[in-house]
Order: sequence, then structure tokens, then C-alpha cells
Amino acid sequence: MSNFDAVAVKGEDQSPLPIKESTEMSTVLLKTSCIHTKKKILLPLFILIIASAITATLIIVFKNRNVEKTTLTIGNITMEPLVTKPAEPSTTITTTTTTTTSTTSTTTTTSTTTTTSTTTTTSTTTTTSTTTTTSTTTTTSTTTTTSTTSTTTTTSTTTTKKGPCSSGDLRWNTTGITVGINSSPKLSCSRLFIDSNDTLYGVDNTKAYVWKLSKNDANAIDIAGLYELEGHSISQLNYPEDVYVNRYGDIYVVDTNNHRIQKFVNGKTEGVTIAGQGVTGNGSSDLLLYPRDFAFDSTETFMYVADRSMNRILRFLINSTVGKSGTVVFGNEQDGNQKHQVNGPWSIYLLPPMENTLFIANHDGHSIMRWSIGEISGTFVAGKPGFACSDSDCLHDPTDVLVDDHSNIYVVDSLNHRIQMFCQNNKDGETIIGNGIRGNNSTQLSEPRGIAFDSAMNMYVCDTGNYRVQKFLKL
Ligand SMILES: *[C@@H]1O[C@H](CO)[C@@H](O)[C@H](O)[C@H]1NC(C)=O
Ligand SMILES: *[C@@H]1O[C@H](CO)[C@@H](O)[C@H](O)[C@H]1NC(C)=O
Ligand SMILES: *[C@@H]1O[C@H](CO)[C@@H](O)[C@H](O)[C@H]1NC(C)=O
Ligand SMILES: *[C@@H]1O[C@H](CO)[C@@H](O)[C@H](O)[C@H]1NC(C)=O
Ligand SMILES: *[C@@H]1O[C@H](CO)[C@@H](O)[C@H](O)[C@H]1NC(C)=O
Ligand SMILES: *[C@@H]1O[C@H](CO)[C@@H](O)[C@H](O)[C@H]1NC(C)=O
Ligand SMILES: *[C@@H]1O[C@H](CO)[C@@H](O)[C@H](O)[C@H]1NC(C)=O
Repeated sequence: MSNFDAVAVKGEDQSPLPIKESTEMSTVLLKTSCIHTKKKILLPLFILIIASAITATLIIVFKNRNVEKTTLTIGNITMEPLVTKPAEPSTTITTTTTTTTSTTSTTTTTSTTTTTSTTTTTSTTTTTSTTTTTSTTTTTSTTTTTSTTSTTTTTSTTTTKKGPCSSGDLRWNTTGITVGINSSPKLSCSRLFIDSNDTLYGVDNTKAYVWKLSKNDANAIDIAGLYELEGHSISQLNYPEDVYVNRYGDIYVVDTNNHRIQKFVNGKTEGVTIAGQGVTGNGSSDLLLYPRDFAFDSTETFMYVADRSMNRILRFLINSTVGKSGTVVFGNEQDGNQKHQVNGPWSIYLLPPMENTLFIANHDGHSIMRWSIGEISGTFVAGKPGFACSDSDCLHDPTDVLVDDHSNIYVVDSLNHRIQMFCQNNKDGETIIGNGIRGNNSTQLSEPRGIAFDSAMNMYVCDTGNYRVQKFLKL
């Protein structure tokens, strides 16, 4: 369809030009015929020469007159059709420009121009009944139009590119190694943090303390909270859920059941409350209700808190003190699975390159959401919002989320007892650790809660239900 109309359109567009060529061609033909006759004249006898010359000149004059007449008649009589002809193409030219633009985008408008092209070709056949040269020009125009149709096909062949999944070289030995196996007391965690020296920091919610295990050490040390002594004093923690250590060695702890965020300056065992007030939250922006996670920007200006039981994300100035209010940046206290809501936010991850994007693990909503700071709505990137299930595109109570340099998303799929990896823009997750069945052998997990990577991309998992920390070597 598009080919047909493009042919006709181009044919019309070129029609005035070949006519000019045809007149030139006729004069050229006359000149060549003149030379031929002169050659013929030189060979025969003088009398014959004169006689033939006279006849030849007479023919030439006659031919010239004829040609001049025909050209004149062409110019005079067919000038009218020619004048009317270009008038037609000029209107079709305008349609040509519209068709060339429309053929690249839509094919519906091209069908209308096909009808106009057929009418013009019939008109040319009726008008060019006098001359056959004009009909040949339309055939030459057909060849040029096929080249234009090829250009339209090239514009249509610009198809979408598919981003490669970078998981190909990201593999881990699925057999785990238990970390700090000889450490006393036994190590476990609900969440892990690994610093630039590959030092492990684990927060043990049930034992109410934070431990630190340096890279080559066999035993961990207690750095915050009093082991097995939960409480709400400045030295104590109550069911802490997450830990973060800054470049100065200051330790930040999400003190979940005390509804507060504690900071332990490097070397200090007494903490300072930097968010929440240690009392049960009620929706007021200076109070928290069972916070589960936090995230810090690289400049350590802001701290984002997942206020899990209030279904909202708050932002605090890191240097804020007790009584300082946070700002509600996302969520509306109403749990739900719509794009403007969070549902039991358990983990948040601030994407380092831009630091304006948060990944939120909706524990109760069984989904992972990507949300740009300042936006009204987020985008679900993993899980079926509101549905707990175990298929590859499903999650069941996700408790931690991480994103690597290749934009692959790692999710601790807690009640599916597995670690899921979602390649960039892929909603089907790949199980990289665990077999989906609760278990305690070296390839299994039981209600895992946290995940972290060291500098060599070895993976550490808080296998909380088995009360152990598992290390999975990068292959
Ligand atoms: C066509 O012929 C008429 C006379 O028949 C003349 O007046 C007119 O100028 C001619 N037109 C052209 C374009 O030569
Ligand atoms: C994974 O680790 C186990 C136990 O350490 C080892 O036997 C196995 O060969 C490793 N597999 C690969 C692929 O490296
Ligand atoms: C890493 O180790 C070096 C040398 O022991 C130390 O100076 C630095 O503070 C450590 N970094 C962190 C984040 O603990
Ligand atoms: C929350 O409780 C505090 C007292 O602890 C009270 O001053 C405040 O008005 C309450 N806010 C809401 C939103 O109920
Ligand atoms: C907290 O940090 C902000 C931004 O860096 C600064 O403007 C403010 O003065 C600081 N407040 C305190 C009490 O240090
Ligand atoms: C591991 O699980 C099995 C049951 O599957 C149980 O008999 C065994 O005691 C467990 N081992 C540990 C160390 O908990
Ligand atoms: C762990 O248990 C599963 C059954 O759930 C089994 O298929 C697998 O072989 C076991 N792995 C090891 C290392 O024992």
C-alpha cells in the first residue's frame, strides 16, 4: 500500500522534469540526424550531393518546423495540460510531504493517498494520449520511487533494543559456609552490614546486641547493646533489626521494639537517640512505630527510616536529636498495595549512584517497590503486590533488598526460604540460594532475614531461623 502510493507520488513529483528532458532530447536527436545526413552527403556524387543537400535541408527545415510545431504545440496545446498537471502534482506534493511523514509513523493515512495516485495516473494517460514521451517518464519515476519505499522500510526497522541480563557472570556456590563457627557465643543476625575493610557487623534481634567480626578474626565482639539483656536504657536495645556503621566507626542501630534509632559514637557503649522517642508511635512525625530499617546518603546528611507499622517512610537529618521531627516522604499510614502506598515496609535500600531512588521491601505486601524521592507513586519491580506465593515472579514476606552495580535486585524471600535475584527489568526472579524448602543443611535456609556482599561479591546471609550466618562464595 505504502509502496504503491509512494510510487505514484514520486512519479507525479518528477513528471515536470522529464518533459523538459524530452524537449532537449528531441533537439539532440535532430542534431544527430543532421550529422548523419551530412555524412551521407559527402559520399555520393556532386549532383546528387546538391540534390540530396537540397532535399536534406528541405527535410531539416520541414523536420525543424515539425519539431518546432510539435514542441510548440506541446508547449501551446499541452501546455495547458502541463500547467494543469503541475497544479495537480503540487497538491499531491503537499500530500507527499504529509505521506512521507505519515508513512514513518502510521499506515492509515497512506491508504488515502493511494486513491489520489491512481486518479492522477488515469489523468496522465488521458492527457498524454498525444505524446508517448510522458508515459516513459512516469516509468522512470517508478524506479526512483522504489528507492523511497526502501527508506520508509528502514525507518520502520528501527526496533527496540533488549538489555542484556548481567547475571551471566554472577554465580555463587550454593553450598554455604557457616561464619564464625567457633565463635562464642554463636553468631546469628537479622541484618548484616559490611564495611570497606570487609568487617562484618551483625545485629542479633533476639539476643539484643550488635556484634563485630573483623576479616581475619575467629571471634566476634559485642559493640552495642547488652547480650541477652534487652531493655530501654541508653546502653540497651530491644529487638534491634538493623545496623549501619559510618566511616568514623559510629554505629547506628534500628532499635525496633523501643521505637527509636540509636547512635553509638565509635568506642562508646552508651547510645544517643537520634529518631523516635522510645515511646509507641501514633503517627506523629517525631515518633516511630516498630521501625525495621534505615538508609543513609553518602554525605551522611539524611537518614531514611522505614516506619514499618505506620506504613510510611520518614526522612531525618542525621544530626537530629531527640524531639526533632522527621519528614514523611512516602506512605500515608494506611497499608495497601497501590503505587502510592507501602505495606509493612521492612527494608529500604538507597541506590548509591543517584541517591534519589529508594527500593522498598513491602513485607506485608509481598512486593518490592522502586520509588524516586519526591514522587507521589512508586513502581513495583518484583513480587505480586498483595499476594504471597512461591513462583519465580512471587515473594512471601520479603525482609531485605539490595541492588548491585548492574541494577540487579537481590531479595531475601523470607518465607520462601530463598534468595531471589531479579535481573534488570525482569519480573521473574532466579533462586540463587536455597531450594524453597525450609531446612538446615548447607544448601538450605530457614526464614532468612538479611543479605550483604563483601568487596569480592561473596554473599552473606542471615539464616535467622537456623540461628547462623551463611557465606556463599562468588564463583
Ligand atoms: C498558443 O497559440 C496562440 C495562438 O493560437 C498564441 O496566441 C499563444 O501565445 C500560444 N501560446 C504559447 C504558450 O506559445
Ligand atoms: C562449592 O563448595 C563446596 C563445599 O565447599 C565444594 O565441594 C564445591 O566444589 C564448590 N562448588 C563449586 C562449583 O565451586
Ligand atoms: C579500615 O582499616 C584501616 C586500617 O586498619 C583503618 O584505618 C580504617 O579506619 C578502617 N576502616 C573502617 C571503615 O573501619
Ligand atoms: C501523639 O502522642 C503525643 C503524646 O505522646 C501527642 O502529643 C500527639 O498529639 C499525638 N499525635 C497524634 C497524631 O495523635
Ligand atoms: C545538622 O545538619 C544540617 C545540614 O548539614 C545543618 O544545617 C545543621 O546546622 C545541623 N544541626 C546541628 C544541630 O548540628
Ligand atoms: C536439622 O533439621 C533436622 C530435621 O530436618 C533435625 O533433625 C536436626 O536436628 C536439625 N539440626 C540442627 C542442628 O538444628
Ligand atoms: C539438603 O536437603 C535437600 C532436601 O530438601 C536435598 O535435596 C539436598 O541434597 C540436601 N543438601 C545437602 C548438602 O545435604
